Amino acid sequence: MDAKPKTFKKLMVQKLTSNFREAVSIEISDMCHPSEGEVCIRNKYVGINATDVNVTKGRYASVGAKLPFGVGLEGLGEIVEVGENVKDLKIGQYVAYMNSKINSYAEYACIPADEVYLIPELNPEYIVLLVSGATASIGLDKSARITAGEKVLITAAAGGAGHIAVQWAKAAGCYVIGTCSTEEKEKVLKELGCDRVINYKKEDLAEVLRKEYQNGIDVIWETIGGQVFETCIKNIANRGRLVIVGGISSYKSEDSFMPKLDLSFLPELLLFKSAAVLGFRRAAHRECFASYFKFLSESLQKGDLKTIIDNGEKSAGNEFFGMEGIIKGVE
Ligand SMILES: NC(=O)c1ccc[n+]([C@@H]2O[C@H](COP(=O)([O-])OP(=O)(O)OC[C@H]3O[C@@H](n4cnc5c(N)ncnc54)[C@H](OP(=O)(O)O)[C@@H]3O)[C@@H](O)[C@H]2O)c1
Repeated sequence: MDAKPKTFKKLMVQKLTSNFREAVSIEISDMCHPSEGEVCIRNKYVGINATDVNVTKGRYASVGAKLPFGVGLEGLGEIVEVGENVKDLKIGQYVAYMNSKINSYAEYACIPADEVYLIPELNPEYIVLLVSGATASIGLDKSARITAGEKVLITAAAGGAGHIAVQWAKAAGCYVIGTCSTEEKEKVLKELGCDRVINYKKEDLAEVLRKEYQNGIDVIWETIGGQVFETCIKNIANRGRLVIVGGISSYKSEDSFMPKLDLSFLPELLLFKSAAVLGFRRAAHRECFASYFKFLSESLQKGDLKTIIDNGEKSAGNEFFGMEGIIKGVE
């Protein structure tokens, strides 16, 4: 194994804005070394998430808005140094991690040992099981509380979290409806087992829900916000649950994280439907991460779970590589 170099590159947020490229700079820093209870990981792959622009905008309380700060929620790599009082982890092991320090957009990252999971190989498919996998599986189990036979609507169904949510709900015996915007994604969603795919560029979401699901939708996985939230909640079933997982339609806005809505109709609707609206934030369920990651990894290895990865070749024509590749990936 190569010795650690004296310096490494990392992305640091220098300006609070949801324009990622404007927010970050590539810095060369002295090599980091793990504190007690941490390991130092040489990153091979990092995962790009829709919420990265919320981090750079300073919307993450755990990171705060005191400049400069790091960015990046997850990674895969090899342990190159082990801090004091770390048991069961060794130099040379391959690991995946979701880091509460939010600093993975770097060549090396020092991560608390309890946020690190052993993996058999440095396969980028494991990235999908981290933030996306944890959000989909824990969110549908703990917040949505899906049960077999329920109708589940997954928004942004072909996205990172969405395509795992589709498979999780199908595996639980649910009827799954997925929304997307292209014919290519329609095909992918059918292959993943969606019972009904709604391409909202070709069909009107409100009309499809009203006409085809007159008894309403039991569980709604809502990641878009604004008009989509309003359409979804107006089509909730009796005793249904709408889980707010995100509001991607306004992340790039410099004003508000979630689109503003007039929800004066909501209390009456929820009362008469005996329904619920609740939020899901992955970081509030840390105690579940290790067991869900293990289950998802085993499902991947057995071929029961499929992952969709875009390493840049699909969306940008060539592979995202290095710090500049991360910036292009977010864009
Ligand atoms: N609460 C949590 O802990 C947590 C954790 C992870 C993710 N999330 C949320 O889950 C959602 C998906 O995240 P992800 O990282 O999986 O995203 P992703 O892979 O980047 O997928 C996002 C997809 O959202 C769809 N979309 C619909 N309207 C959009 C709009 N106005 N702008 C941009 N995209 C739009 C697009 O698919 P179509 O074009 O096919 O519609 C897009 O591909 C986000 O809201 C994110 O914040 C929440």
